[in-house]
Amino acid sequence: MAKKHDKKADKKTDGNQPFLTDIQTLRKRARDHIMQGAITPGYRAERETVVKLLNEALATEIVCVLRYKRHYFMATGINADSVAAEFNQHATEEQQHADQIAARIVQLNGEPNLNPEGLTSRSHAEYVEGENLVDMIKENLVAERIAIDSYREMINYIGNKDTTTKRMLENILAMEEEHADDLVGLLEKMDG
Ligand SMILES: [Fe+2]
Ligand SMILES: [Fe+2]
Repeated sequence: MAKKHDKKADKKTDGNQPFLTDIQTLRKRARDHIMQGAITPGYRAERETVVKLLNEALATEIVCVLRYKRHYFMATGINADSVAAEFNQHATEEQQHADQIAARIVQLNGEPNLNPEGLTSRSHAEYVEGENLVDMIKENLVAERIAIDSYREMINYIGNKDTTTKRMLENILAMEEEHADDLVGLLEKMDG
């Protein structure tokens, strides 16, 4: 049942603003440390930890782009065309995730780590080539499931301390779930 709006409570909080910082303080805080850009003193998350987690997610996305691209070019067999098209679409979407994450890292005054050295050890998911089409689909499915779990953990960790990062991760998570679902669908088709 939806909670009834309590007008009385609104009135009560109008006068002394128990949960909002007063305007003067907000304005002063915004002027201090102006070069920190989007990061204001009201930022409640551990900025460095968030940047580190995002860099791991960035590495994961890039490894996923590379794996999907490899599979796209290597897909052969009777069902290859439709499966390859799916791989390529996922590769494009993983690249978009990587770009969003890198942009957010910069907003958080961090630096996106795009160094190819150590990429696979920073990544949560693995780069597995796979022997045939079914193998490839399964490897991608495993990687998506890893991504789903790690995004879910990140979202839980960040909670409401950084809602912008949280919202971005939630949108990415929703798409990884779609990817996993697509791959299960492909596997089912291959069996039948
Ligand atoms: Fe992704
Ligand atoms: Fe994905």
